[in-house]
Formats: sequence, C-alpha cells, structure tokens
Amino acid sequence: MAKLMDILEHFPFDPDKKVPMLIRKQDYSTALYPPNDASTSDNTFTIITTDTFMLGIYELAPGSCFMPLDIHPGDESYYILQGPVVQRSGNGQFCWLETGDGLVMPRGAWHSGHNFTDRKSRILYFIAPKAWDEHIPPAVIPSDEETKYYKGANNDTLPDMSGKIETISREHCTDDLGTFPVDGPSMRETGAIYPVRHLDKLNNIHGTKHPMLLRFITANDFGNFGEMILPAGGYGPRYSEPDKHEGDGAIYCVDGPVTINLDELQESFVLEEGDSFFLPAGTSYQLVNFEAKPIKCVFAITKL
Ligand SMILES: [Fe+2]
Repeated sequence: MAKLMDILEHFPFDPDKKVPMLIRKQDYSTALYPPNDASTSDNTFTIITTDTFMLGIYELAPGSCFMPLDIHPGDESYYILQGPVVQRSGNGQFCWLETGDGLVMPRGAWHSGHNFTDRKSRILYFIAPKAWDEHIPPAVIPSDEETKYYKGANNDTLPDMSGKIETISREHCTDDLGTFPVDGPSMRETGAIYPVRHLDKLNNIHGTKHPMLLRFITANDFGNFGEMILPAGGYGPRYSEPDKHEGDGAIYCVDGPVTINLDELQESFVLEEGDSFFLPAGTSYQLVNFEAKPIKCVFAITKL
C-alpha cells in the first residue's frame, strides 16, 4: 500500500477526475499513523482524500493511544464505530465516547485517541476542508508540558478553558443547521471540542412522503457529518427522496447492505457494511432499502 503522505488529496482519484464511485472496504489504503513508530501508531484506513475533504477510519489496539498529538488545518469530526474511546485534547478536555457517538474538533485543536478497553476501537473520521497543508503538521509537536492534564506541570500558565465550552444539550432545530453543535468560527477561536452524543445529535427528516431520518453530528461552514437512517417497508422497497449537494461528499455504510441509486444517471451501486461511496458535487442520489430492517449510513458532505 502507498504511503499516506504520497496519496494525500489523490485517493482513489485525482481531484480533476472525480466521478461517483463505490469504494469497497478492501480497497481502502492502509498505513500506520504515524508511520515511524509502531508502538505509538494507530492502524489507518484511508477511504477518500481529495481537495475538498478526507474520510477514513483508524483503529486503536486495546490499551493503546496514538502519539504524538494530531492537528489539522480543517475541522475534524468523528463517528465512533466501535467504542468506548477517550479523546484527549491538548487544552485539557477528555471526552468519553461510546459506539455511535460523535465528536467535533475545530481546526488547530491538538488531539489523540485512547483505548482503555480490552477490544479494538474503531473511529470513522471526516476532515474538511483540508487535512494537511504546508504548515501542518508542524515541525514542532507540543510536549507534555505544553498540554493540560491531571496535575500537568504547566496547568497554571495554559489557557483556562472552563468558561469557553458551550452547553449543547438543548434540542436543536432546522435553523441550527450551519452552526451545529456551535458556530464554526467561534469554535475555532476558543479551541473547545464537542462530543455530540446519541441524544445530542441534531435530528431532522428528509422527505415528507418517504421520510428518512438525518442525525447531524456536525453542520457548520466547513462540513456536515452524521447518520442517515432509512427504515424498511412501503410500496416497493423503501427509498429516500432524491437529493443533491453543493459540495463533494461521501456515504459510509454502517448497517446495510444499502443501494445507492443515481436517479438522473440511472446507475446504482450496492454498499455492503463498511463500504463507502463518493458523491461529487451536484450528483443526484437516493438510498434504497431492500432489507427487512432499517439501514444506517454515515454521511460526510462538505456543503449541503
Ligand atoms: Fe486527526
């Protein structure tokens, strides 16, 4: 498999060659991250890395964490495929995340994942608009002394975060799309990270005649990320009403199989669990459920 740094913004296609594409889980590009020390690496599966976003999965072995802390010039969101995971932020926040929970981190937030369990942890991540640039990752990674944690040596001199973290547990509404869980620019200014747990997701319904449940983890100026839940049942297979997006996006199949039908192109693709689909901007699509159970996908869409 290719080196992660060699495929950045070019996997599985060059940015000028975007087409709707099924990307099967066995075709994800694998790497250790970071690549130079297996003792502090996670097991990374890159699904898509293009000029508008990056989507992938990382795994943490029982008892492990990845080091050094990671950082990006874009916001990063998580969907926990298999938890619990404890996410550390350099600012002194530590989030306990169960399977199905989400997390939103602003650009510039130093972070690392920890697995304190006896099972492998698996995390689906979405970074938009950019995962790396010429300044990130920087040559100098923060030392322990430059981060805040229990009895940390420099806790008194590092910024006080306690008043900078917003409460996000109210029931959010359709008008919050674009500023969920908090306003993007202010989140980036404070550096606070936000776990978006099962009950805190922004619920919405796409389609009144063929309703599909949308559960947002992130909906801000950099990207949109969350669950799509399409039930079974109806006249014929249950399907969602066609939708298209202004920006590039992808769909990851959590509970499937699910058929993605490109209604205008009259092409369809079947995603098994763990497979993904790339949706270039402007592609009209619908989900079709041929099963006798609800199907669940995670969407990662740069602009709705
Ligand atoms: Fe990261």
